[in-house]
Order: sequence, then structure tokens, then C-alpha cells
Amino acid sequence: MKFLLDDQTLFKNLEIFDNDFVPEELLYRDNQLKSLEMCLKPALKGSKPLNALIIGTTATGKTTSVKCLFKEIKEQSSNIIPIYINCQIYNTHYKIFSEIHKIVLGYSPPTSGISQSDLFDRIFSSLAKKKKILLIALDDSDSLFTANSMVIYDILRSHEIFDNLKSAVWCISQKNKMYLADDKVRSIFSPVIIEYLPYKFKEIVEILVKRAGLGLYNNAISRESIETIAEQSFDLRNAIESMKKAVLLAEADSVKAVQRKHINSVFNIEDKEKNQLEKVILANLKNPIESGDLYKKVEHIANNYTKFYRTLEKLQQSEKIRIVPISKQKGRSSLISIKR
Ligand SMILES: Nc1ncnc2c1ncn2[C@@H]1O[C@H](COP(=O)(O)OP(=O)(O)OP(=O)(O)O)[C@@H](O)[C@H]1O
Ligand SMILES: [Mg+2]
Repeated sequence: MKFLLDDQTLFKNLEIFDNDFVPEELLYRDNQLKSLEMCLKPALKGSKPLNALIIGTTATGKTTSVKCLFKEIKEQSSNIIPIYINCQIYNTHYKIFSEIHKIVLGYSPPTSGISQSDLFDRIFSSLAKKKKILLIALDDSDSLFTANSMVIYDILRSHEIFDNLKSAVWCISQKNKMYLADDKVRSIFSPVIIEYLPYKFKEIVEILVKRAGLGLYNNAISRESIETIAEQSFDLRNAIESMKKAVLLAEADSVKAVQRKHINSVFNIEDKEKNQLEKVILANLKNPIESGDLYKKVEHIANNYTKFYRTLEKLQQSEKIRIVPISKQKGRSSLISIKR
């Protein structure tokens, strides 16, 4: 007999797994959120917010934290206009300023027949009249330090032309590319730099457990399955998407919970490969060894360093190995040994 009829589902709310879902609470990002709040604070007192450069590798919560904060600003302050712009979509000076125009004035400017300086005047004279503070987040902003670097300059120099105008820019990027920008852009931008480090294995697991609690019915996925997904995924975004796929496969099978075969199918792995990386790592730990040297020995199975390090963290969590960071001169290297 089939457990799940066609209209039965393991999802309480499928939207919880969408890419643009903004969770109410961000785990493990207290320090970064505090820094963003510090940048915002002057605006709450009617003064200019600080500029910020938000950097970190993929799926570390950069976009989500800014969106969370902007949501709060919209709910709590009418003096600040927060505008989020993805610079991969709005990828020219004109498109970015048209989007700002749309939000500040409530309608889009004509697509032709208006000069950049007219556009600039319309936006900033409207803001000056309304006495509003402008806070613009420019996401995926690498091009702003090269081809489109006048965007930052033009937003931030607006106070020179319009009295009493207060605006700040928060750039979101995977790497700090400020060195590519003109001196005049660097000087006017002078941001607070906020860094987002990759999540640890344990943190990814807890975020997935929380997401499952919000989006799935009880017991639709076990903690063990979540740990396997975290271990196999290359980042948090991939882990969330993989969990959704595994649950959809379980649904398609008309069972009440995700099984190992669903996860294997998502990651295209055979059962016999299960824990193979763990076994090879343990077999190479007859003596303590540096993480970089150990990676060279197991690279052919691990394929990438993130997956390798995540497996180490998992082994440490289950008290099978010890990971001891080595002195700073050696960067982020660690000494790995068996826990006896
Ligand atoms: N601390 C967190 N708690 C809960 N969910 C999180 C957290 N951090 C990230 N996420 C989720 O992970 C996914 C990726 O996050 P986000 O898009 O913010 O990453 P990003 O750093 O902007 O990545 P990219 O550089 O690729 O744009 C989103 O689905 C988001 O909801
Ligand atoms: Mg992002």
C-alpha cells in the first residue's frame, strides 16, 4: 500500500526551501549582524550610516543577512529608504540608477531620452525634499570596482550637490576587490569590512535541522540523513537544495521519511562508497599528520577540500580524531591525530 496519496506531502511549507526565502533568525551570524547594525545606527539618529563591504565565499549568508536587516528597517523606520540591488541583473550604471529611481520616486524613468545626470538629479532632489536617508546594498558587486565604479562615487558624492543628503553604500562581494578601484572611489567609500567565513560542518547541520523543522512535517528526515547531506554538499545553499530534492524523492516513493537511497540518488553515490572517505582518512592516521599533507593523500577520493575538511570535522565530532590548529605562521593548517 502507498503511504502517501497523490495530494499528501512531507512538506509543511515548500517555500521554506526557495532560494530567496529569508529566515526570521540567522544562526551563527551574530557578529556580522552586530557589525551591520553598527553601520546602520547613525541613520536611526538621523545621521549618515557607515559604508560597508561585506565579503565571503558562496552561501555564507551575506545576501540573507542584509535582506533580514532591510526587512526590519522597512518595518521600523520611515526615515531610511533601504534599497537592495543585484548588480548581476542591474549590470550598468544606467540600470542601477533606474532601479533606484523606481524605488525612490515610485515609478521607472523612461528607458531613453533621459541623461545620467538628469536621472541623478531626479533621484537626489526627491530624496533631499523628503529628507530621507538612502541606504543602498549592491549585491554581486565585483564590477563596481572596475567598469561601474562611478556608481559608488555618484551615490556617495550626492551630498556635495544636495544639502542635507545622507546616503551610504553596502557592497556585497565574494572577494575584496577594492584594490581595483580608483583612489577617488576608494577614498569616498572607505567601508567597514565585514567578513563571512564558511560555515563549519556542525553549523550547517544545525541550520538544516532548523530549516527542516520549519518546512517539513515531523520525522520526515532524520538527523543522520541531515548529517550525510551536510557532509556531501559543497556549501549551505547546495545542502538546502539537496535536502529538498531528497524529500521530493521520498514523496515520489510514497514513503513517510527520507531514506539513504534518496540521498544516494541526489548525490549520485553508490552505497559501497558510503563512509569511504572516512575510512581512508582513518587509515592514513597511523601517526599525527598536517591537514594539508593528509589532503594530498586522500584527494583522489575527497575531490575537494571543503568535503575533506567537513569529513574531518564530522570525525572530530564523533570523537574519532583530534584537530589541533598549528601556529599562525602556517595559516589555517591543523595537526590531525587519532583519538585513542
Ligand atoms: N545563518 C543562516 N541561517 C539560516 N539560513 C542561512 C544562513 N546563512 C545562509 N542561509 C541560507 O543559505 C542560502 C545561501 O545564503 P545567501 O544567499 O545569503 O548566501 P551568500 O553569502 O549571499 O552567497 P553568494 O555569495 O553565493 O551570493 C540561503 O538559502 C539562506 O537562506
Ligand atoms: Mg548572495
